[in-house]
Amino acid sequence: MEGRGASASGGVVDKSSPERGGGPRSGGGAARQRRSTAPPPPPCGWSPSPFRGGSQKDMAMTDARRFAPATARNREPIAAILRDVLPPEGTVLEVASGTGEHAIFLAQAFPNLAWQPSDPDPSAIASIRAWAEAARLPNLRPPLTIDAAAADWPVERADAMLCVNMIHISPWEATVGLMRAAGRLLPAGAPLVLYGPYVQQGVETVPSNLAFDADLRRRDERWGLRRLEDVVELAEGEGLRLEAVHAMPANNLTVVLRREG
Ligand SMILES: C[S@@+](CC[C@H](N)C(=O)[O-])C[C@H]1O[C@@H](n2cnc3c(N)ncnc32)[C@H](O)[C@@H]1O
Repeated sequence: MEGRGASASGGVVDKSSPERGGGPRSGGGAARQRRSTAPPPPPCGWSPSPFRGGSQKDMAMTDARRFAPATARNREPIAAILRDVLPPEGTVLEVASGTGEHAIFLAQAFPNLAWQPSDPDPSAIASIRAWAEAARLPNLRPPLTIDAAAADWPVERADAMLCVNMIHISPWEATVGLMRAAGRLLPAGAPLVLYGPYVQQGVETVPSNLAFDADLRRRDERWGLRRLEDVVELAEGEGLRLEAVHAMPANNLTVVLRREG
């Protein structure tokens, strides 16, 4: 089980089994080098759905589902923060929904909100669709293809936005686009909630996050843990203000920003 992470105000606790959104898979660098002839790993370390068997129709439906073990560990703590942050009604735009597991869980947890998942990756879109087809939730919208870095998004407004584990595993331009979109799409007072690992000024970065950062940069030089201060500065430039930073399990943070009036 995950323990408590680094306090937003300074205390640092390292974990032996950190939760990694897109983190290194078991085996580490040496193991990866030994397996260098293998095909590249899937994005974010997703696995095929463990749900197998049943009728031909069931198989066809479940095959596209992808499974990210971290979502089962972080979804409850994320939902606990969202309960105090999300509006009572309206539409939540989730950016970088990945497998779609958070979308299913959170749409169930917040039945009065319409949940709009999105991702730029076709395999993620297929996975979200497959999970949604199985869950049949009335408040879950079909997934949208959204590249956060793009200038135009196929959305005109959102009453809240959520982005879990994207900022460190995408080029900085995706974060720039995310903040611009939040400034454009959110009405005054609406929240943008971020979840993931960060580097913070004045807070010692735990060894597991340093190793994670190095691994990300090895995989793609445009990736890596961001300085929270840089992300907040970018958000402020788009008319958002920092409301809260919550320490989360496995040395992650939940960052709550709000659109200013
Ligand atoms: C580590 S996975 C996290 C997925 C999901 N939020 C979760 O926590 O399980 C990173 C996700 O970011 C998405 N992503 C990468 N670049 C992006 C971009 N430019 N715009 C939007 N999403 C992006 C990937 O397709 C992937 O689904």
